[in-house]
Amino acid sequence: MRICVFQPDIPQNLGALLRISACLDVPVDIIEPCGFPFSEKKFKRTAMDYIRHANFKTFIDYQSFKDQQSEDPSSRVILLTTKSKRNYLDFRFRKNDRLLLGRESAGVPEYVHETVDDAVTIEMPGKGRSLNVVVSCVMVLSEAIRQTRDL
Ligand SMILES: C[S@@+](CC[C@H](N)C(=O)[O-])C[C@H]1O[C@@H](n2cnc3c(N)ncnc32)[C@H](O)[C@@H]1O
Repeated sequence: MRICVFQPDIPQNLGALLRISACLDVPVDIIEPCGFPFSEKKFKRTAMDYIRHANFKTFIDYQSFKDQQSEDPSSRVILLTTKSKRNYLDFRFRKNDRLLLGRESAGVPEYVHETVDDAVTIEMPGKGRSLNVVVSCVMVLSEAIRQTRDL
């Protein structure tokens, strides 16, 4: 399983994702450009010393991220989006799936929607427009780990 983040623009969120990566041993793919420099104070404060233990890779753009995926076609890119009708609780995850998170300000552009292998949503019967990106990640990642854990 990998967490993939499309052009993150809030440093604290990326910091929290790297912390999850370090603690759960799940690698992170960061698709640039980010909306902030990696050296930014706010980012370092949230990631704390976990950044040293996080396993992350950066890609200069979405195309280079996709190029790497094509080297292992069995590894699917599963987009987390409010725009899918497929409830993540009904989705069958695989151990080598890449969970792709959209940008905080704008989700992902149409060309990304068109090129992912699948897309899932966390149903929101309440009134909010969307969940925080880290919360979405944790909800879907824990379901994916639950389904694919070694029994
Ligand atoms: C703050 S949301 C982006 C909101 C953006 N305005 C949009 O329309 O997509 C940031 C990311 O969190 C994830 N996300 C938020 N709510 C979600 C939900 N209900 N189901 C699946 N993913 C969600 C998606 O990956 C989304 O791109």
